[in-house]
Amino acid sequence: MKLFITGANRGLGLALTTEAVKRGHTVFASVRNTVKQADQLKQLSSLFPNRVHVLSLDVTEEATCQAAAETLKAENIAIDVIINNAAILNERSKTIEEIDMEKVEQSFNINLFGPMRVVKHFLPLLSKGPDASIINISSEAGSFQNAYGGDYPYGLTKAALNMFSQQLKKYLAKDEVSVYAVHPGWIKTDMGGEKAPGTPGESAHGILDIIEKKQKIDKNASFLSFKGEPMPQ
Ligand SMILES: NC(=O)c1ccc[n+]([C@@H]2O[C@H](COP(=O)([O-])OP(=O)(O)OC[C@H]3O[C@@H](n4cnc5c(N)ncnc54)[C@H](OP(=O)(O)O)[C@@H]3O)[C@@H](O)[C@H]2O)c1
Repeated sequence: MKLFITGANRGLGLALTTEAVKRGHTVFASVRNTVKQADQLKQLSSLFPNRVHVLSLDVTEEATCQAAAETLKAENIAIDVIINNAAILNERSKTIEEIDMEKVEQSFNINLFGPMRVVKHFLPLLSKGPDASIINISSEAGSFQNAYGGDYPYGLTKAALNMFSQQLKKYLAKDEVSVYAVHPGWIKTDMGGEKAPGTPGESAHGILDIIEKKQKIDKNASFLSFKGEPMPQ
């Protein structure tokens, strides 16, 4: 399969790229700075030059999403999977009275409008049919039922991302494209911190199983854990 991933230079994006390549897939690994791409991604692309293709893409800049999609289109490349992984977590533990609204806007720009820009430009490249999927990496922080009264920008953007996933699921049902918002678990990355119980590798393993249809998933579920279990909306 051919996968397109955002934020592939570190954290979960790098783990997803590594796991996909290990399983024999080809990855279009997008990073916002191709010069500063992490050593591990550089190593992977030199080990597997035909299976790791690094693209430059900043999810806040629509022109870069369009240019990356046009690069693939010019080479007649169709993709099977879009993974919207890039995100930020800011204004942690700020109360609503303390919150900086510019940071809230920044969060929406990356965590929600980013995936929308990516889908806008990459959907025409997606091969339709039962093997195709769009995976929006979400978070339990986006669950209405489990709202915990904090992390406003992050929780709100992920709730909206879940809605975007549900909208896409309906829109693409006739094309048999699977669309899921996936909570990767609390994992050890720059975002998750050292105390996180999970690893990005375990999470990537579960997400690749979802993509490869190795998990039996409730057909009505659109918000899943990385193990393919339905999450409370
Ligand atoms: N870690 C957890 O415990 C946890 C829990 C629940 C959900 N998640 C979700 O899992 C996903 C991955 O998180 P992570 O833990 O791997 O985070 P991370 O280690 O902080 O990595 C974030 C990635 O997003 C990229 N990024 C940020 N802004 C970008 C932009 N404007 N354009 C393109 N790329 C951009 C970063 O690139 P740069 O290196 O250029 O900044 C980096 O590759 C996110 O959607 C996150 O919300 C994580």
